[in-house]
Amino acid sequence: MSVGVERTLVLIKPDAVRRGLVGDILARWERKGLTIEAMTLRTMSAELADQHYADHVDRAFYPPLKEFMTSAPLVALVIAGDQAISVVRGMIGATDGRAAAAGTIRGDLSLSNRENLVHASDSAASAAREVTLWFPELT
Ligand code: PPS
Repeated sequence: MSVGVERTLVLIKPDAVRRGLVGDILARWERKGLTIEAMTLRTMSAELADQHYADHVDRAFYPPLKEFMTSAPLVALVIAGDQAISVVRGMIGATDGRAAAAGTIRGDLSLSNRENLVHASDSAASAAREVTLWFPELT
């Protein structure tokens, strides 16, 4: 990868798949000029959920989050581009869709802090860990 180009791990969550919003969400990143490097539709296992959310497993909100995330298929993808980690996080908006700014994915399309459509890595360390977890063939 060139200097400044980053990879980030993104999950288009089960609520977005159920609501038929995958194309709308993907189009935003494509129009921005980011590159989709890998993409798959799969149902998250309980084991993968515990690994992916290792920092949150002891939080009160984790059981309902795990139940939701393992309940139906999601789309996992690796997105690449200049400063992709912060750019994608900015386009997603704040965790709670009710508080997220208009123009962001959650601000435009979600009214929830659980069914908030998208996850994206929040740092370079998280991105490296999460890309390896979901797409070991890329590392
Ligand atoms: S924190 O406290 O800042 O570390 O957490 P935050 O980044 O806001 O949220 C981490 C993930 O937990 C989800 N979340 C919840 N799920 C279910 N119920 C409640 N109340 C709840 N609050 C936060 C939130 O959607 C984040 O999921 P990801 O997949 O990381 O976006």
